[in-house]
Amino acid sequence: MPIKTYDTISGLRGELSARRSAGAGAGVGFVPTMGALHEGHISLVRRAAAENDITVVSIFLNPLQFDESADLDSYPKTLEADIRLCEAAGTDLVFCPSVREIYPDGASTRIEMDGPTDVLCGRSRPRHFSGVLTVVGKLFHIVEPDAAYFGEKDAQQLAVIRKMVRDLNMNVNIVGCPTVREADGLAMSSRNVHLNADERKASVCLFRALTAALEKLGDAAGHGAPEDDSEWARLTADVTGSARAVLDAEPLARTEYVELLDAETLAPLGGSSRAALCAIAARIGDTRLIDNMRFSLNE
Ligand code: PAJ
Repeated sequence: MPIKTYDTISGLRGELSARRSAGAGAGVGFVPTMGALHEGHISLVRRAAAENDITVVSIFLNPLQFDESADLDSYPKTLEADIRLCEAAGTDLVFCPSVREIYPDGASTRIEMDGPTDVLCGRSRPRHFSGVLTVVGKLFHIVEPDAAYFGEKDAQQLAVIRKMVRDLNMNVNIVGCPTVREADGLAMSSRNVHLNADERKASVCLFRALTAALEKLGDAAGHGAPEDDSEWARLTADVTGSARAVLDAEPLARTEYVELLDAETLAPLGGSSRAALCAIAARIGDTRLIDNMRFSLNE
């Protein structure tokens, strides 16, 4: 069937209920996006299409999750090309609503979370995760997917969405998908188009810093697990220090944070941590980039 696009909630719901009653055994897979699609987004769509009968992609630039209006205004918008990419990757339905459709006048309910929303990107962007959770919660109610696909590129977003689903008993399976990178290691991002040629070259420092951090962590893990919180803190400082040194050596980079945390809880690492997440945010020129890598512990 050719791809169909809907910009109203009632239109999308009508189509989904008709297709469900026609018998969609393997269910509905959902990929929420903000558009300006690239190979990273498309890897999620392909996976959803392979694992579900019906694949829905939403394209909605969610104003609620932008703390800086300049960032929202300069966000690339490429709707026609996005729809073609979705179609080629096996999407059945694209949902591209207006801001008014999602937030009609007077809409003032938000999903708020304590804890993992306050660290990493939450420090400099205090309203960001509440905006993400509110829109993702609304989209889950509209689409009612069996499975929803998110990139590990946004590791904190993935962790807080998993927690929201647990905390609010949402009936959806959250699938995390690996980060897709350019040949030199830069994580694909809709914001990469803002980098000029020098900045693009410099931006590989995030990948290099993460690689250095994981090497350090691998060496340390080879010498046995830390025995108490102060040893975990020392290990964390060593690992983040080696990443920071790589970032500091790049004149075009301004580091916002380099952290090593428990990958599930985003709390400091400790004896019960099963995996570590090394996460970086840095500005290259005016463009804010984030990246992360995960390292299994206790194996
Ligand atoms: P957006 O930045 O458009 O990303 C949509 C999805 O694509 C997210 O799950 C993100 O983690 C994933 N993604 C982006 N770059 C990727 C890469 N290089 N490799 C793998 N996956 C990648 O994230 C959002 O939109 C919004 O916050 C949203 C969840 C749609 C809520 O508005």
